[in-house]
Amino acid sequence: MKLSLSPLVLFFAHLASAATDAPAWRFNLKAESSGIVALESVIVNPNLALFFDRASDDPLQINGHSAWGALFNLQTAEVTPLNVVTNSFCASGAFLSNGTLASIGGDQTGFPGNPIIQPGNQAIRLFDPCASPTGEGCTLFEDPNLILLEKRWYPSATRIFDGSLIIVGGMHVEAVFYNVDPANSIEFFPRKEQTARPSPFLERSLPANLFPRLFALPDGKVFMVANNRSVIYDVETDTETPLPDIPNGVRVSNPTDGSAILLPLSPPDFTPEVLVCGGSAIDDRIPSEDLSSQIPSSSQCSRITLTPEGIAKGWEVDHMLSNRTLHELLHLPNGQILVANGAGSGFAGFNSVQDTIGNSNSDHAVLVPELYTPSAALGRRFSNAGMPNSGIARVYHSTITLTPQGNFLIAGSNPNNASNVTGTGVTFPSEFRVQTLDPPFMFVERPKILSAPQKLAFNSKVTVPISLPGSLTGDNAKVQVSLMDLGFSTHGFHVGARLVFMDATISKDKKSLTFVTPPSGRVYPPGPATIFLTIDDVSSEGVAVMMGSGNAPPTLE
Ligand SMILES: *[C@@H]1O[C@H](CO)[C@@H](O)[C@H](O)[C@H]1NC(C)=O
Ligand SMILES: *[C@@H]1O[C@H](CO)[C@@H](O)[C@H](O)[C@H]1NC(C)=O
Ligand SMILES: *[C@@H]1O[C@H](CO)[C@@H](O)[C@H](O)[C@H]1NC(C)=O
Ligand SMILES: *[C@@H]1O[C@H](CO)[C@@H](O)[C@H](O)[C@H]1NC(C)=O
Ligand SMILES: *[C@@H]1O[C@H](CO)[C@@H](O)[C@H](O)[C@H]1NC(C)=O
Repeated sequence: MKLSLSPLVLFFAHLASAATDAPAWRFNLKAESSGIVALESVIVNPNLALFFDRASDDPLQINGHSAWGALFNLQTAEVTPLNVVTNSFCASGAFLSNGTLASIGGDQTGFPGNPIIQPGNQAIRLFDPCASPTGEGCTLFEDPNLILLEKRWYPSATRIFDGSLIIVGGMHVEAVFYNVDPANSIEFFPRKEQTARPSPFLERSLPANLFPRLFALPDGKVFMVANNRSVIYDVETDTETPLPDIPNGVRVSNPTDGSAILLPLSPPDFTPEVLVCGGSAIDDRIPSEDLSSQIPSSSQCSRITLTPEGIAKGWEVDHMLSNRTLHELLHLPNGQILVANGAGSGFAGFNSVQDTIGNSNSDHAVLVPELYTPSAALGRRFSNAGMPNSGIARVYHSTITLTPQGNFLIAGSNPNNASNVTGTGVTFPSEFRVQTLDPPFMFVERPKILSAPQKLAFNSKVTVPISLPGSLTGDNAKVQVSLMDLGFSTHGFHVGARLVFMDATISKDKKSLTFVTPPSGRVYPPGPATIFLTIDDVSSEGVAVMMGSGNAPPTLE
């Protein structure tokens, strides 16, 4: 019998689908399995995210053993294993000016039953630009002769004004909690000299200075915060200028992970402001065995303007609506900041404090994200109105990244000593489910950037074709064009994340957009970028461009 639906049934079906699509923030289960625990996550082309885990016992297999690198297809949710040779556990990563992604440092140890693993703490792994939407032919390249000057587990790396990477801190060997064998130095890739530069700032920020939070500033210097200490580092003269401590003893780097972000930079002055949220206010002389997973994390957010006047004023203190550690701060294309993931108590790591939950050093997963509006008045900047509950704990070793589609990809979480800890009764398992967090603009008609040149020169005027839905063609609409580095997510910090607004106008016929690129590589370090057009808080999908020449580093164009 042929099934025919009555007009009434069709009417209700329509209502139901309209209800599902109503513009609102939503979590969406994207895939049951990421194949490996995504403890590092980075967008490598418009269709692919690259995940790294520790080399251990993940279900995804390659060459007859567990994989620890994988490409995740943002359209189909398919996972393709990558052949990684060295252990990328707790590495950092960033793109160079020529578009190659460098994965930096990692772990020296192997894993029982996975004998092929090479030590990774001095490794540099290169993933060249790869346009394939399925990941076919995309490879990771490791040259045993291309190594760091120092062994680094838990370092941070970010691109600077000349398109090369500054690589900061870390530990020489694996340890359970504090930095007990510090690599208190700075080096570059490609190398600028044959010895690493000692860093008094890293000495001063022991013992909780792992994964230092750092940003390339628009004058070419580098801001860093680790533990409760902060500094501006001048790469060109190798000098450090200490800044005021984070107030109230709040510590914000691993293992007391708070997160940090460089707020959007706007023309004409590109005045840098840094926001640092969450972490823990413990006394860092307390040995880890005397700490507990139940010690509340901090709600404090500290913000500083990095001008002489701003530094004289010091940190302005604000509070999130929740207490968090192990969370991340991320840019939305409209300049708001998303706070997501994390735990309300405890610390990074596993099996090293009292009252562990299973193996987890943290507890009280925070499941509802928040939005921060930088331009709002103090005390009114945070909101979780209309924010859904994710239903999935994302604590230690979880990740989140903005995608070129304009939503957030969320994966990972694994406060365990292996990557195959699952089953009933495990509160914080090895988490393989992948979600997206979709902003309300995903459910309405969006502006489109129809095409863009592959390469953009600094300080130039660029016109691109666009199409706008009727709802967004008003003459008083708020138009924003953002040039973004989507960054690299690991350990509660989105290293490399950057948003530079560009002056922009839309033509009278609404068919083209003209914007002005940043004045130099100091404002946006030369390298890959994604451009979004936002009209009245409705963002387009991003278009990928190369900001600058695309030359190998060092390059000033
Ligand atoms: C994961 O653990 C289960 C149960 O302990 C075991 O049967 C399975 O072989 C493990 N998988 C891998 C890839 O080690
Ligand atoms: C920062 O931490 C150090 C080491 O624990 C402490 O001596 C110092 O007083 C702290 N600074 C502030 C402003 O709390
Ligand atoms: C949240 O953090 C603040 C300081 O940042 C602290 O005063 C407060 O006690 C914490 N809240 C809870 C519920 O622990
Ligand atoms: C993980 O911890 C369990 C329990 O402490 C232990 O039996 C196991 O050997 C550990 N595995 C690894 C790979 O360290
Ligand atoms: C980009 O530059 C790095 C550093 O010089 C080099 O190792 C890499 O091969 C280059 N990538 C491409 C695609 O040429």
